[in-house]
Order: sequence, then structure tokens, then C-alpha cells
Amino acid sequence: MGKLDKKIALITGGGSGIGRATSLLFAAEGARVVVADWAEDHARAVVAEIAAHGGEAIAIKVDVSKGADAERMVIETVKHFGRLDILYNNAGIGFARPLHMMTEEEWDRVVDVDLKGVFLGCKYALPELMKHGGVILSTASVAGLEGIRRMGHYCAAKAGVILLTKSMAMDYAEYGIRVNCVCPGGISTPLAETGYDKLTPEKLERAKNATAAMHLLNRVGQPEEIARVALFLCSDDASFVTGQAVVADGGWTAGHRFGSSR
Ligand SMILES: NC(=O)c1ccc[n+]([C@@H]2O[C@H](COP(=O)([O-])OP(=O)(O)OC[C@H]3O[C@@H](n4cnc5c(N)ncnc54)[C@H](O)[C@@H]3O)[C@@H](O)[C@H]2O)c1
Repeated sequence: MGKLDKKIALITGGGSGIGRATSLLFAAEGARVVVADWAEDHARAVVAEIAAHGGEAIAIKVDVSKGADAERMVIETVKHFGRLDILYNNAGIGFARPLHMMTEEEWDRVVDVDLKGVFLGCKYALPELMKHGGVILSTASVAGLEGIRRMGHYCAAKAGVILLTKSMAMDYAEYGIRVNCVCPGGISTPLAETGYDKLTPEKLERAKNATAAMHLLNRVGQPEEIARVALFLCSDDASFVTGQAVVADGGWTAGHRFGSSR
């Protein structure tokens, strides 16, 4: 018996990285999964992987920053599977840019996808979840807990996700809805490795070592390590957990490494 048997899970950004790993794990644990992603071909590839392992999933092309798309992804989910139990707002983007060099459009895009996208997903999923209870999970970040240089737009959006999570948990507990977010540290995904292909081998090595050293465990995480936290939070194992920002960061935020070589 799987931890998510009979559950219908809608996962945004399910076509890559953390969302892909979570879609595969949730399906392996018995959920029927909606893989919602802007990159439709990636979403379809994940659906094919799930089917190859005997699971059931559909792909939906969606831009989470658009209200009409968010509404449609919930309508299509319910039309296809009959209900919705789990919404995982995971789609996100980010790039480094000093604030004085950032255009208004760049700021808007990151905040629209990373923060407004969570609001829109919840706005349209909540009426379904309020019928019978359910779970909302979102991917925040250590960037919502601490500042990161040249990532002001991303930090602001992810900090917003954390307090949106706590606030929603308070509003919807009475409907049997648990609301949490996960705060990953550096995870090996295409998003985290943006620009790596433009570096010389020496600079790439230095960048990888510097990123690894941000973590007490001296390595970045793998998407599957966040997927397992997501599984815990979305399953009945976490039946008493709501309103929390659960940190899975290899020790990034444990404290300042004053007097240590790392
Ligand atoms: N990788 C990390 O180090 C890290 C750390 C902390 C938090 N996060 C967060 O984890 C989440 C997943 O990121 P990832 O690292 O797996 O990256 P990723 O690039 O591998 O996956 C992100 C997915 O989101 C999709 N997406 C982007 N914009 C979208 C939109 N507007 N509508 C629908 N889909 C969209 C992309 O197509 C992609 O498939 C993001 O919210 C990210 O901010 C990542």
C-alpha cells in the first residue's frame, strides 16, 4: 500500500528538477498525478515515465502566473480525475541580478511566477479542497529565510511564500486543509545550474565548490531529497503539521561558520 493511495495530486513545475522527482515519487506511492508545467514536452516525458512504471498521470501546459491558466489546470484535473486532494505549488524561476540593474519586467516576472503563482494555484484549488479537506504544499527556499546576494527579487518572493503559507494555514485549518512549504538549500537542478555551461572548467569547479560549501554537509542536495520531504508533508505521516516552513538545506541555515574553515 502506498502513502498516497487514491489521492489526486496536482504538481506545478512537474516537468523538471524537484517537481519531476516529486511527480515520480507521488505516483510510485499510489497518487494519480497532474504534471503541470510551462514546458509541455517535459511534462509529457514525466507522464510517460510514470506510465512506464505502471502509474497514472496527465500533463497540462500552464503558466502559473496567469489566472486563467491556474483556473484551467484545476478544472482539467477535476474533469479528468474527479477530485483534487493535493496541490503542490512548485514551479519557480530565478536568476542573479543586482537590484540597480534589474528591469521592472525582470522583477515582475520572478514575483509573478514565484509568489503570485502560489496565490493563483491556491485561489483556484481551495474551493475543491474545501469540499473534503486536503493538502497544499509550496516550494519556498532558504532564500526566503536569509538574504542571498544579487537575488533580492527571488528572496522577496520566497519570503512571501512562507508567510502566505502560514496565513493560509490559519484560514483553512477549519476545512481540514493543511498548508506547508518546504525550504530547500541548493539542489542540483537545471534552475540551480543556470549559466554553468558558460563557465570554463576551472570556474565551474570553483562555482560548484563554493555552492557545496554553503551547506554543512558540503554538497548540494538531489531533487529526490526534497521529493521525500514533500511526500512526508503531503501524506498522513504529517497529519499534525500545518503552517510550517520545513527546511531541508543540508545545514545551510544552521548558523554562521565563524572560526571554521567552511
Ligand atoms: N534548485 C534549487 O537549488 C532550489 C532551491 C530552493 C528552492 N528552489 C525552488 O524549487 C522549485 C523547483 O525548481 P527546480 O530547482 O526544480 O528548477 P527546474 O528549473 O528544474 O524546474 C522548474 C520547473 O518549473 C517550470 N516553470 C517555470 N516557470 C513556470 C511557469 N510560469 N508556469 C509553469 N511552469 C513553470 C519549468 O518549466 C520547470 O519545469 C522552484 O520554485 C525553485 O525556486 C530550488
